[in-house]
Amino acid sequence: MPPPLLELQGVRAGYGLVPVLQGIDLVLQRGEAVSILGRNGVGKTTLLRSIVGALRMQGGAMHFDGRSLAGLPTHRRARMGIAYVPQGRQIFPALSVLENLKAAAFGARRGDSEAAIEAALEEFPLLREKQAARGATLSGGQQQILALARALLTRPSLLLLDEPSEGIQPSIVDQIAEVVAERNRRDGIAVLVVEQNLHFVQRLGARCKLLDKGRMVFDCSARQIVEDRELQHRYLGV
Ligand SMILES: Nc1ncnc2c1ncn2[C@@H]1O[C@H](COP(=O)(O)OP(=O)(O)OP(=O)(O)O)[C@@H](O)[C@H]1O
Ligand SMILES: [Mg+2]
Repeated sequence: MPPPLLELQGVRAGYGLVPVLQGIDLVLQRGEAVSILGRNGVGKTTLLRSIVGALRMQGGAMHFDGRSLAGLPTHRRARMGIAYVPQGRQIFPALSVLENLKAAAFGARRGDSEAAIEAALEEFPLLREKQAARGATLSGGQQQILALARALLTRPSLLLLDEPSEGIQPSIVDQIAEVVAERNRRDGIAVLVVEQNLHFVQRLGARCKLLDKGRMVFDCSARQIVEDRELQHRYLGV
């Protein structure tokens, strides 16, 4: 049997002496989609930053496609097929939409970058329409679409999304959930999304894992968390 696409064993991480992740176990198979839910400050972003290598692990093991990620810099992980849409998008505000896409294509791991950019403009007509506009002039939702297109441009086998619905109008939240679900189904891109928005989680329909105080505490279906007010109250504080 091939190894899982992503495997975390007892991962610990934090900032200085402050521990945040306190032993995370997580297995993601090829083509699988998982949502991680948890209230503010439980370590969701810290988890994704550890996976992309923006933050060094303090303990435990992490493997991608059977290879250890320990000590590998972010750009190496990106070339291996890990794409990341960070919380708050972090597009280049002074660059145009097209330049933002070109910057991503430049670091992509394979293939023809012009064709990849053309495919992104085809998939997201909004970006073609706005290709000359500076990133800063886009709405939050439009920036999120740009950040998603930028991540998909690298043809990842794993897509990490950090609260893609945060601060975005509902129609674009739905559109983003649709694109992510479709790429997961059609292209087999594995997805790990961190969210607090149950609507997004429901649209994506992935299996859910609840994170609390740096530990995975509960596994359930999207439907279960959407319907169970007690679970929501306990782990999401809603
Ligand atoms: N750069 C940093 N330096 C020190 N502490 C940090 C830093 N970034 C985050 N923290 C702390 O680590 C903990 C986990 O933060 P993290 O950003 O992973 O939470 P989160 O689950 O993503 O929260 P949110 O839902 O608000 O995005 C919090 O207590 C936070 O205050
Ligand atoms: Mg966060």
